[in-house]
Amino acid sequence: MIKTAAPIVVLTGAGISKESGLDTFRDAGGIWSKVRIEDVATPEAFARDPDRVHAFYNARRHSMLDADVKPNAAHLALARLEKTWPGGVLIVTQNIDNLHERAGSQALIHMHGELLKSRCGRCGDVQPCLDDLSVAMACQACGELGVLRPHVVWFGEMPLHMDAIEEALACAGLFISIGTSGNVYPAAGFVEIVRDYANGHTIELNLEPSAGASAFNEAIYGEAGIVVPAYVDRLLDKL
Ligand code: APR
Repeated sequence: MIKTAAPIVVLTGAGISKESGLDTFRDAGGIWSKVRIEDVATPEAFARDPDRVHAFYNARRHSMLDADVKPNAAHLALARLEKTWPGGVLIVTQNIDNLHERAGSQALIHMHGELLKSRCGRCGDVQPCLDDLSVAMACQACGELGVLRPHVVWFGEMPLHMDAIEEALACAGLFISIGTSGNVYPAAGFVEIVRDYANGHTIELNLEPSAGASAFNEAIYGEAGIVVPAYVDRLLDKL
């Protein structure tokens, strides 16, 4: 039985945005079946061939800005949970899309960054970014040419806001993991922090068992657009 005063931490991955029209990474036909991580998603790839890395993220930004890409029932259900749950809800997303904020979620951490922002590799300035990035551009803050990059976390880089995330996990009464394959750390280890430090209940909502499925107390398998609203209803029915 989850206490209604218990803080909830929700971890989301690419699976929650699949029904909104965005590709996952490791499913059949997913992004990493078409391009190699080491060609587009590492600091070394950017140093070697920045045009290629920019082209990859520019194409993903175009897909994300397509008028048909909208928050789905799972994003909307989590925003409803945040508005209603007495103990508070924090969403920690691995996704670089903006679908949680468009659904109305406010307590949200983008641990892998945001595709609609650029960052200067020299001075660290972060700016909104709706257009293509290229090596020909200069940083608005320091004026340096060719150093702008997407504000995303690449393999080999430290995810963002880890102190705040670990603090929230260590006192979570409930941890809900949605649409993530459990292959990428540190996110894949969050379930253990909640279990070992907070003694909280842990549940996985995914299309299929993730790599870390056995670490969870409970699991419900199905499409996020179906199982997430149903689980949120189950929680809110107790109030
Ligand atoms: N509903 C729920 N789950 C789904 C759906 C759906 N409609 N469609 C797919 N899934 C599940 C898949 O079964 C899979 O377990 O979502 C998961 C997606 O896993 P990945 O593609 O590995 O995505 P994710 O876990 O978010 O990846 C983590 O790896 O390369 C990266 O930086 C990138 O943030 C990303 C990180």
